[in-house]
Amino acid sequence: MATPAPLPLLLFHGLLALSLALGAHGKPGDHGNLTRQAFPPGFVFGTASSAYQVEGNTLKYGRGPCIWDTFLKYPGTTPDNSTANVTVDEYNRYMDDVDNMVRVGFDAYRFSISWSRIFPNITPYVVLYHYDLPQVLQDQYNGWLSPRIVEDFTKFADFCFKTYGDRVKNWFTINEPRMMAAHGYGDGFFPPARCTGCHFGGNSATEPYIAAHHLLLAHASAVKLYLCTMLIMPESTFQAQQTGKIGILLDFVWYEPLTPSMDDEFAAHRARMFTLGWFLHPITFGHYPETMEKIVMGRLPNFTFEQSAMVKGSADYIAINHYTTYYASNFANETHTSYVNDWHVKLSYERNGVPIGKKGYSDWLYVVPWGLYKALLWTKEKFNNPVMLIGENGIDQSGNDSLPGALYDKFRIDYFEKYLYELQCAIHDGANVIGYFAWSLLDNFEWRLGFTSKFGIVYVDRTTFARYPKDSARWFRKMIKNE
Ligand SMILES: *[C@@H]1O[C@H](CO)[C@@H](O)[C@H](O)[C@H]1NC(C)=O
Ligand SMILES: *[C@@H]1O[C@H](CO)[C@@H](O)[C@H](O)[C@H]1NC(C)=O
Ligand SMILES: *[C@@H]1O[C@H](CO)[C@@H](O)[C@H](O)[C@H]1NC(C)=O
Ligand SMILES: *[C@@H]1O[C@H](CO)[C@@H](O)[C@H](O)[C@H]1NC(C)=O
Ligand SMILES: *[C@@H]1O[C@H](CO)[C@@H](O)[C@H](O)[C@H]1NC(C)=O
Ligand SMILES: *[C@@H]1O[C@H](CO)[C@@H](O)[C@H](O)[C@H]1NC(C)=O
Repeated sequence: MATPAPLPLLLFHGLLALSLALGAHGKPGDHGNLTRQAFPPGFVFGTASSAYQVEGNTLKYGRGPCIWDTFLKYPGTTPDNSTANVTVDEYNRYMDDVDNMVRVGFDAYRFSISWSRIFPNITPYVVLYHYDLPQVLQDQYNGWLSPRIVEDFTKFADFCFKTYGDRVKNWFTINEPRMMAAHGYGDGFFPPARCTGCHFGGNSATEPYIAAHHLLLAHASAVKLYLCTMLIMPESTFQAQQTGKIGILLDFVWYEPLTPSMDDEFAAHRARMFTLGWFLHPITFGHYPETMEKIVMGRLPNFTFEQSAMVKGSADYIAINHYTTYYASNFANETHTSYVNDWHVKLSYERNGVPIGKKGYSDWLYVVPWGLYKALLWTKEKFNNPVMLIGENGIDQSGNDSLPGALYDKFRIDYFEKYLYELQCAIHDGANVIGYFAWSLLDNFEWRLGFTSKFGIVYVDRTTFARYPKDSARWFRKMIKNE
């Protein structure tokens, strides 16, 4: 974390400056049966992205390597052997992208800061950490497996609050800590690719819980820094000075019991608690869910009294990243102890041969709009009615769909229409949801899928990097601007 040079910050400053120049809202009108008037006053519409997936220029402007750069050097990591070295070159093309957001009528843009690079009126919703751990911290002390990460993350957060906090009023600490814990340390699917039996070592029965524990503590420590007294201004706090808010982004698939049996009801409950509850339960109540404590026992780290007090209440709002729904049934896999086997759950995409919904391009993504409604009302009920946002929601198509066919994405319009309708119902029935971010503006680098899966409402030509709005971008424009 050397003194930041001005250049690496250009993208960020650029996005921030442009972000703040927007803010127009549509007038009442008629479009299908869904318009932004159906949402409460002040409700925010935006798109979401992450630094690693869109910036490119991984070797330029003084950026240091992160764990994804290292991981992607292994051939076959992505089906198309792609890397994020260039991806959609947003580092240089963010003006075009913000132009497109403005044309569609979005209010906000959710993007993340590249930790290893620091080292830009759309309202910014800024994520401090979205999967891209500086490689140096992995090498020094095994990254998220060490408690030392908490202090380093807090220093990084301090830098970001000091440098950008006058302009950024909406912060998220960490995106999808569960994915990092489960895939980085449970099955080795994400870097640092550790698990029982993995090439890089690991222990799927313990390390996911240790990594998650440090992710929670790092989150809570950064929030505490934002909310509590600053040394340089003992009479005030970042939050009091900067009047912003801070929260976390949590992935949450809805788990529906396969059958109405009590066994399957409990199985679905366990699946929800081992995913959303793993993080939101401590953030709400200061300790892990009882169902996890009972099953994981001595392998589940404990919070000290001070840590528990720091974690409890450590969010002004919670963003839920939600794409799909699965059936859950009671199932004991005794082959070996691991985070996923601890759930004692079997997941399925169909019931009596009937698929739970239409499949997207990705095997894991089924269109189940009612799942969003249930997920939001369950979260409201179980976790003291938190202020929520939808941090991500969207559907992909094949990466080799080309122009002009790739632009005719009616399936994606259907997805957004139905999910937003369910969101509106959930709000009507009491879920306190204040904003929605579509994933994603651009066809970007989709982690392990490389460029074989496209979630964008804007197509990106992989050779020229020119941007072409798809029909779904026009649909959003009509919906938001009521044209
Ligand atoms: C709006 O459309 C959805 C499906 O797209 C339908 O289920 C719902 O009944 C419609 N709502 C109104 C108020 O017409
Ligand atoms: C991509 O970047 C990595 C370092 O992050 C480098 O090792 C690799 O050679 C680059 N690949 C290409 C095709 O430029
Ligand atoms: C990716 O790289 C691996 C190893 O070099 C190779 O076997 C495979 O054919 C490549 N796949 C593509 C789609 O280029
Ligand atoms: C947490 O505390 C419980 C009860 O004091 C103890 O049984 C368990 O071993 C502790 N877990 C760890 C990982 O230290
Ligand atoms: C049981 O767990 C093992 C190890 O995680 C896994 O490889 C296997 O597929 C699981 N079996 C079933 C039926 O889910
Ligand atoms: C498109 O992608 C799919 C899945 O990645 C692959 O099986 C297929 O061969 C590709 N088609 C073309 C024309 O490249």
